Amino acid sequence: MPDTPLGTINPPVYRASTLTFDSFQSLSTISGELRAQGKSGYGRAGNDSIWAFEDMLAELDHAEGAVALESGLAAVTITLSAFVAAGDHLLVSDSVYDPTRQFCDGVLARFGVETSYFDPLIDPEQLRTLIRPNTKLLYMESPGSLTFDVQDSPALAAVAREAGVISAIDNTWASPLNFKPLDHGIDIAVQAGTKYIVGHSDAMMGVIAASGETLLKLRKQMYLTGHRYAPDEAALALRGLRTMAVRLRHHHQAGLDMARWFEARPDVAAVLHPGLESHPQHATYKALFKGSSGLFSILLQPGTTPEQVAAFVDCLEYFSMGYSWGGYESLVVPQYPARCRTATSWPPSEAWSGPMLRFHIGLEDTQDLKADLEGGFAALAAAG
Ligand SMILES: Cc1ncc(COP(=O)(O)O)c(C=O)c1O
Repeated sequence: MPDTPLGTINPPVYRASTLTFDSFQSLSTISGELRAQGKSGYGRAGNDSIWAFEDMLAELDHAEGAVALESGLAAVTITLSAFVAAGDHLLVSDSVYDPTRQFCDGVLARFGVETSYFDPLIDPEQLRTLIRPNTKLLYMESPGSLTFDVQDSPALAAVAREAGVISAIDNTWASPLNFKPLDHGIDIAVQAGTKYIVGHSDAMMGVIAASGETLLKLRKQMYLTGHRYAPDEAALALRGLRTMAVRLRHHHQAGLDMARWFEARPDVAAVLHPGLESHPQHATYKALFKGSSGLFSILLQPGTTPEQVAAFVDCLEYFSMGYSWGGYESLVVPQYPARCRTATSWPPSEAWSGPMLRFHIGLEDTQDLKADLEGGFAALAAAG
């Protein structure tokens, strides 16, 4: 039975700035209890709508608590900024989401925090040599944005822990249904809920899951930087959460089906999908992840011109061009990973030097998607 006042399936949405207390006693007791959890008796720190949602997210991530925020990037920046002060150092994986890098280089650097980028496929022993006395956080993302390198994140987190360094991972691609970072010794799980939690491309959210002192620090950082998640968006995200497992199963199957289809085509040089046996870190993927999602990249053959790419994407009907993913609709977008790297060079070989297209496979019938893409490849060939 739903645990709601009227037995409604979904909890009511509380829109509130002010929370009131009916006596001096309750003011001091309730506010005190909330403060001990890193919350407060004021609406900016949330209310029952938000906290009920956060509790569900914490359960999914096997964490003591979760913090919901207004975008995935807010979850990233709160994580990156909560544990550092001027003079500190961060270790960040080279294939992170580009705005994550821009925050480190453009904002944290102004406050005297230095970031070093490391090869996402670094050997854990080599990572040990990069940890300095002032290193405070190891930040990973796996698979990495655009290039889908799969990191041995538990081994890297173990090295960080030995050195007293907190570890965090952007787990948006897998979601806690396919990988639970905290179960693998990683301290903080970051997720852009905008993608698979919301799932319908109509709201944004970010979530950070953690335990103990780490969680309290994250919550405090959120409160003192004025972030707050809107209850109406939380209701949309909660609705998305109800169907996420079913949707992800489809994204997994359809994504792999489409990845295999691309792989068999002569106009495609490589498909960067960790679930494919041909993926260089497929064994790590199999060991860590329960399944995949609908997001992957393909590389067209070297020599494919920008005009051919334009002819391809412009004639697609099912695939819109858009920078997000995780919704029910299929998307495609040309991408340039070389622009984001500093520690490693991309492409790793001439064979992978053709244009990159990132695809999100939605919930449509894959036969329709393939027919659409056949048309795209015919237009690409005609423009050659
Ligand atoms: C891996 C990853 N992390 C974080 C984000 C940021 O999420 P949001 O767009 O909700 O700010 C994105 C967005 O595309 C992403 O792909």
